[in-house]
Amino acid sequence: MAETVKITFDGQTVELPLLVGTEGEKAIDISRLRAQTGLITWDPGLANTGSCSSAITFMDGERGILRYRGIPIEELAEHSSFKETAFLLVHGVLPTRKDLNRFSVLLNDHSLVHEDMQIFYQNFPRASHPMGILSSMVNALRSFYPVLSTGEEEINITVTRLLSKVRTLAAMSYRISRGHKVVYPRPDLPYCANFLNMMFDSPVNPYVIDEDIVRALSVFWILHADHEQNCSTSAVRIVGSGRVNLYASISAGIAALWGPLHGGANQAVIEMLSMIKDQGVSIRRVLERAKDRDDPFRLMGFGHRVYRTYDPRAKIMKKMCDRVLRKFNLQDPLLNIAQELEAAALADDYFIDHNLYPNVDFYSGIVLRAIGIPTSMFTVMFAIGRLPGWIAQWKESMDDPDWRLCRPRQLYIGPKINAYVPIDERG
Ligand code: CMC
Repeated sequence: MAETVKITFDGQTVELPLLVGTEGEKAIDISRLRAQTGLITWDPGLANTGSCSSAITFMDGERGILRYRGIPIEELAEHSSFKETAFLLVHGVLPTRKDLNRFSVLLNDHSLVHEDMQIFYQNFPRASHPMGILSSMVNALRSFYPVLSTGEEEINITVTRLLSKVRTLAAMSYRISRGHKVVYPRPDLPYCANFLNMMFDSPVNPYVIDEDIVRALSVFWILHADHEQNCSTSAVRIVGSGRVNLYASISAGIAALWGPLHGGANQAVIEMLSMIKDQGVSIRRVLERAKDRDDPFRLMGFGHRVYRTYDPRAKIMKKMCDRVLRKFNLQDPLLNIAQELEAAALADDYFIDHNLYPNVDFYSGIVLRAIGIPTSMFTVMFAIGRLPGWIAQWKESMDDPDWRLCRPRQLYIGPKINAYVPIDERG
């Protein structure tokens, strides 16, 4: 017999079903709680709330496990490419060679963006943040490209179009922000190399593709490709639940990712490390500030809602960071500061007691700097990586038999009934 959970309230006991996931995690099904008891649940930040069932990504925050479609992140980072991982997330299985070739052809076919979109770019003020621009441009895609939403094949075209065009739009935004001519995608280059070429090629200094840099970018994107129901993915699902088009849902995800507590942390980490270096702030002082409840400062790149141990992505990122810097014989002073800061935080009682460990963003900025990506583009890089995850989650939500419009409840704490006072009678 299926397990249940009993709740007694107001002299009445109701039995709520217990749902069990593949990995044995358990959830109380409260979908009929209000109908049965009049109660709602209270969970700020939704830290204890399962908002959907999903077969895409598994995370175990206590044991530091992350798997996409059951495959450990360590194996994907070692053996897969970003393109293959994107296929895995979106379609649910690893592609055959034929699938992958067809996927490459489609990505290539859809890589150009409408020329009129360049006019949009010209009109953003120069100081605009690339994340704001990217979110707007992805939303604008809807006006240029219809959403084909009937049938698997049509959805695949919309999805591939998005995966390919967002990469082009991101590179375009960088070029235009520097006042440089846009570089078009090249059909002979694979996904990651094509992006680097669009970013950095110049008529006076042709970009030379280095396979180690391409590999570093591919792994960076694999590590960011999905992370189950995080803030931006939830935004994609919530916005999508109103049955808006895919572009608008992804645009909402990009906006959510921008925040410094979420994807914007990679930029915030480099700003923090630069501040320590430029202002000569001691590591001890940085930790003191991070621990001070009256100071809004937090150690950026540390802590996570789900991980209570070292983020498995951060372990891979740290190794990659060492490898890339060694290969190119680069000395980044920020790496020394990061290592010193990490060692001091991991030995500090506050960080130990709060289970605060480095997350994926702690070392990722140093890798991106080594690749040549400017700090203002860091979160855009995260967004390109997260795209397959957002798309997979959106697709899954569209087919979910339990789908309902997302519409949480609240505990109202405002005034009870209040009279309307005409303007001349207000004090
Ligand atoms: N530095 C100092 N104290 C921290 C930090 C930090 N980075 N993170 C959490 N804490 C403390 C917090 O002050 C609180 O202490 P107390 O219980 O004594 O009041 C306790 O730990 C719990 O914090 P919380 O904010 O309730 O925890 P959360 O699960 O809501 O926060 C977080 C998760 C990621 C927002 C937070 O750890 C944080 O702000 N980290 C820095 C920003 C960052 O690196 N974000 C990237 C996350 S990974 C990329 C992604 O997937 O988005």
